[in-house]
Amino acid sequence: MKTTIIPEIVQGLKVEQKYISSKFFYDDAGSRIFQEIMQMQDYYLTDSEFEILSLQAEKIHCALQFSEPFNIIELGAGDGFKTFKLLEYFVSKNIHFNYVPIDISQEAISMLCKKLKERLPGLHIQPQVGDYFEILKGMSTETIPNLLLFLGSNIGNYLRADAADLLRLFNDNMNVGDKLLIGFDLKKNPLTIQKAYFDSHGVTKRFNLNLLLRMNREFDADFKLDDFDFYCHYNPSNGQVKSYLVSLKVQTVYFKSINERITFQQNELIWTELSKKYSVSGIETLAKLTGFKTNQHFLDCKHYFTDSLWEK
Ligand code: AVI
Repeated sequence: MKTTIIPEIVQGLKVEQKYISSKFFYDDAGSRIFQEIMQMQDYYLTDSEFEILSLQAEKIHCALQFSEPFNIIELGAGDGFKTFKLLEYFVSKNIHFNYVPIDISQEAISMLCKKLKERLPGLHIQPQVGDYFEILKGMSTETIPNLLLFLGSNIGNYLRADAADLLRLFNDNMNVGDKLLIGFDLKKNPLTIQKAYFDSHGVTKRFNLNLLLRMNREFDADFKLDDFDFYCHYNPSNGQVKSYLVSLKVQTVYFKSINERITFQQNELIWTELSKKYSVSGIETLAKLTGFKTNQHFLDCKHYFTDSLWEK
């Protein structure tokens, strides 16, 4: 008898509370839609972090208290747009460091390197394509100090236990004295947060619907996008934005390439993403729990976002 292995993305649709892990957002089409999200005015996270890294680069450098040379290792570098300002400052002050951007996407890394070589010819860049856990393992054998960057509120996409596991893993692969600059979106007026995700242009809706298109492409499934909607909700008491796709009718979707059928009830939800918002005290508790000391929080002028400097 022929058995098919159910791919992880489909696996979550076979359980009672359907879900798709948010890691599946980022195929090439999804990554492009995410770039659009980051350019939306309502998605304040990008501008807030850009302001921090542009205006506080000197303060961040002082807080590092590193001997030179050192490494700046960026986990999930993407297009490197925000980091550029920090790197630009370091290069302009003739600070001696290597920049090691890591990303799973070869395309993203190639574009980033091309841009950086043109705009910052003095930068020492050692790009790495791949899974950052593998690359991190090699890092702890280095004898020069390391600054890890985990920016953009990526930590907010992890449930608390998973976030703690990930941060412990970073910690295990760092040397004593190494530092981590990590981005957290802060709790704020709930309406501001709601607008960032329930955007009026429907870009975040498209980002979510792309998950269905992805399954149509990859498994020859027959999702009809008009039969699904997008819903998201911010709960200020626990800081969680939860995003969902909503089935608008009773329907069965056929995944031809794996010969699977999944039925959706009318108004049934598929949970697609958690985007957690933190308080400063919550960040400090998380640092302590995962073996770090908090050195300093760098906030934007509206206090919407922080890049927090932790030390092993
Ligand atoms: C990548 N991550 C931090 C984004 C967030 O805000 O959770 C992804 C995103 N989802 C919807 N809009 C942006």
